[in-house]
Amino acid sequence: MPPGERIADVDAVPDDSSLLITVADRESGEEREAILVRAGDGVAAWFNYCQHWRDVNLDTGDGAVLRDGELVCKRHGATFERESGECTFGPCEGAVLDELPVELADGGVFLDADGYEFVRVGASEGDADDDVHKSTESRIGF
Ligand code: FES
Repeated sequence: MPPGERIADVDAVPDDSSLLITVADRESGEEREAILVRAGDGVAAWFNYCQHWRDVNLDTGDGAVLRDGELVCKRHGATFERESGECTFGPCEGAVLDELPVELADGGVFLDADGYEFVRVGASEGDADDDVHKSTESRIGF
């Protein structure tokens, strides 16, 4: 039996970019974006922000950049392994992307995170004030 809510077909996750999705926190209702990427034989899901500046999205709506098989942050060029989420180069080297747990079954990608529910394929519809709020709290260090 599939573990949770079906997000997308595995085939919908591109080899050379990412599939942007939105989930919602079950307690607060707050929407959060995540990206699905091919990782080895499977699919990994990471919340859609850099570990350098968390208000910077890896996928801004047109797919994340992949270079030599690694995710690239367009702002300052940090690179992240698709499989582990670890930053291998850049200002946040050694940091790890925040994971959204997913499982594969029946040719699909399923949400496997009790605290979140799947909302849609595509961007969050959160308002601009959220971004301003995030940026004032999250640019710490580095
Ligand atoms: S914001 Fe991503 S590398 Fe700086």
